[in-house]
Amino acid sequence: MEKIIPDIVFATNNAHKLEEARAILKGSVNVLSLADINCDDDIPETADTLEGNALIKARWVKEKYGYDCFADDTGLMVDALNSAPGVYSARFAGDHCSPADNIALLLQKMEGEHDRSARFCTVVALIWKGREYLMEGEVKGRIAEGNCGDSGFGYDPVFIPENSSLSFAEMSPEAKNSISHRGRAMAKLARFFDSAE
Ligand code: IMP
Repeated sequence: MEKIIPDIVFATNNAHKLEEARAILKGSVNVLSLADINCDDDIPETADTLEGNALIKARWVKEKYGYDCFADDTGLMVDALNSAPGVYSARFAGDHCSPADNIALLLQKMEGEHDRSARFCTVVALIWKGREYLMEGEVKGRIAEGNCGDSGFGYDPVFIPENSSLSFAEMSPEAKNSISHRGRAMAKLARFFDSAE
């Protein structure tokens, strides 16, 4: 009998994240974007934790559109900055700031700091068959003294994962995804669907 592949919405319109999720979840679920369900809502991200924001997004889609859904939220936690920018990573340097602004502020705050340890953390909130699940992926590393490399996005040029001499922005997408916070969280999601009925 032919296997029925269920639909699930990924509460994002980020093409890069969608492509990554579709590749990793292929064969288990059919990943739809917000655009696919005609949702162009500006979903609020008003929680002060990654879990809270991921849940807001997943619940929004389930409650308003009726689809099972997963959503992610990511933060960069820097030890010397008491885990900042954390949940505010996207707008560290202000509401409409660029990634370069965020990096410049981070490097400025880290000037002369010896403890450069940091980690990226992604939380995925999943609503599936009437239940909620949270999954987490993390990568430890350190903040570089300056920008290194120009691929990737966000803080990639200043994040050097542990056991590497290269920043995320100096790695191929495949090398980064195989060890990254989001890659690890997505791998947990894939294992969940593989073992789910
Ligand atoms: P989001 O929750 O995936 O939108 O991530 C929030 C913010 O964290 C982004 O705007 C980026 O500044 C940063 N970020 C998330 N993932 C990465 C990554 O893989 N590399 C670098 N920065 C990231």
